[in-house]
Amino acid sequence: MLRTLSSVSLLIGLHAIAVTANKPPIIQGPITVGTKGHPFSAYAGNISSIGYVEEEFFLSGDAVRYNVVGNLTSDGHWTLSYNSTASYKTRMLIRRPLDHKRFNGDVLVEWINVSGGFDITSTDLPGVYEAGYIWASIDAQATGIEGGATNPQGLIQWDPVRYGTLNIPDDAISYDIVSQAASVLRSGNVTGGQIPEHAILVGASQSGSRVLGYTNGVQPLNGSYDAIIPAICAGASSDFSPVPAHPTPGQSGRTVATNSSGVMDYVRDADGNTKGGIRLPELAVPVAGYNGINNGLSGNTYPFSDSKLNALYPTHQEYVAKVKAAAYASLHEKVILEYQVKNYTRAAEVANVPPQCTSS
Ligand SMILES: *[C@@H]1O[C@H](CO)[C@@H](O)[C@H](O)[C@H]1NC(C)=O
Ligand SMILES: *[C@@H]1O[C@H](CO)[C@@H](O)[C@H](O)[C@H]1NC(C)=O
Ligand SMILES: *[C@@H]1O[C@H](CO)[C@@H](O)[C@H](O)[C@H]1NC(C)=O
Ligand SMILES: *[C@@H]1O[C@H](CO)[C@@H](O)[C@H](O)[C@H]1NC(C)=O
Ligand SMILES: *[C@@H]1O[C@H](CO)[C@@H](O)[C@H](O)[C@H]1NC(C)=O
Ligand SMILES: *[C@@H]1O[C@H](CO)[C@@H](O)[C@H](O)[C@H]1NC(C)=O
Ligand SMILES: *[C@@H]1O[C@H](CO)[C@@H](O)[C@H](O)[C@H]1NC(C)=O
Ligand SMILES: *[C@@H]1O[C@H](CO)[C@@H](O)[C@H](O)[C@H]1NC(C)=O
Repeated sequence: MLRTLSSVSLLIGLHAIAVTANKPPIIQGPITVGTKGHPFSAYAGNISSIGYVEEEFFLSGDAVRYNVVGNLTSDGHWTLSYNSTASYKTRMLIRRPLDHKRFNGDVLVEWINVSGGFDITSTDLPGVYEAGYIWASIDAQATGIEGGATNPQGLIQWDPVRYGTLNIPDDAISYDIVSQAASVLRSGNVTGGQIPEHAILVGASQSGSRVLGYTNGVQPLNGSYDAIIPAICAGASSDFSPVPAHPTPGQSGRTVATNSSGVMDYVRDADGNTKGGIRLPELAVPVAGYNGINNGLSGNTYPFSDSKLNALYPTHQEYVAKVKAAAYASLHEKVILEYQVKNYTRAAEVANVPPQCTSS
């Protein structure tokens, strides 16, 4: 069971173990039919202009359901056994560099979030493409395909011609579908022949909870992934049942300190910025106070006054040098990628810090 942020790093660097050869799913595609002319959640923009290709494939096969043996204990050492098998057909959306030399060797596999009743992806950020990953997403749960119970907005409703034959009978098979996705990607059969060296599984929100359950229960059986990132799941795991959005009870995740009013809060400096943790340049060389607690999901930003900025950064050159140094420090800690040093530096160069009156 994942309880603290530091445990996350323990999940990075798992080594894929030999996978028992199971019948691989049948691959169909690239898919081109349909009324919309493109897949659901297609790249927003001209993907050729970033040197990538987007293709969609259907996978069909048989996937297993698991039984939980004993309790899902907080040490995360879980035992699963075979329950039954069901047939499925689903889709995988893949974006890969056109030029094989740009491929960095890693495929990121996102477990699509279906909490809203339709597919949402959250890991296909610009940096993924700049760094040369292959990005793939897998529909592993019934809701993404057939939509929610009321006002369904699944793939089938969106484009029945394209997606009408897809079917996932229940969410108990979602875990094995995700294992099978890794073998298909590793084969090169859906990536233009590019063979990934590493497969990294990521999921956020409900998918984060499922990825966490996968980490504890399924990864030890299949060894399908080299690294796993269960994100934004607050330490709560799904429980392998056929029901969607079904977290294990009593696993409330990491403990956050409370202040003397009993309110969850962090240790902060005089500007309200949190101390400790990962010091990205935004916090190491701040131009504002940031508070993520007071305003729901959005948080608040409190820009520093001109006089405070002048006191902190007497010249623009000093500000840029500090941001650049902080970016290199983050690179050294391996929490940002190399191109982001350039991005931070460029952003600092064009920032009006300290504030100047310009006549242009
Ligand atoms: C997309 O980008 C490619 C490469 O930059 C370009 O050749 C093509 O004309 C663009 N397509 C559209 C529709 O803009
Ligand atoms: C599993 O959990 C239940 C409820 O907390 C408890 O009664 C039971 O003893 C536990 N079983 C084992 C094998 O630990
Ligand atoms: C997952 O989906 C829910 C419902 O649409 C949404 O509120 C949430 O922000 C999504 N999570 C992520 C990480 O995208
Ligand atoms: C980094 O900067 C480049 C050029 O300014 C921009 O195209 C790109 O979107 C930026 N990437 C990120 C992740 O912000
Ligand atoms: C994962 O392991 C389970 C249990 O051994 C097995 O039934 C299943 O077929 C495996 N899946 C893959 C994709 O190897
Ligand atoms: C990849 O394609 C080859 C050739 O068709 C096939 O033998 C193999 O089973 C496929 N592997 C997977 C995992 O789809
Ligand atoms: C295991 O199989 C039984 C009988 O098919 C079913 O009722 C039960 O829901 C299954 N459990 C899981 C976790 O899929
Ligand atoms: C505790 O934190 C809340 C939320 O940030 C804040 O409103 C409150 O004033 C804090 N109490 C103390 C004693 O610092």
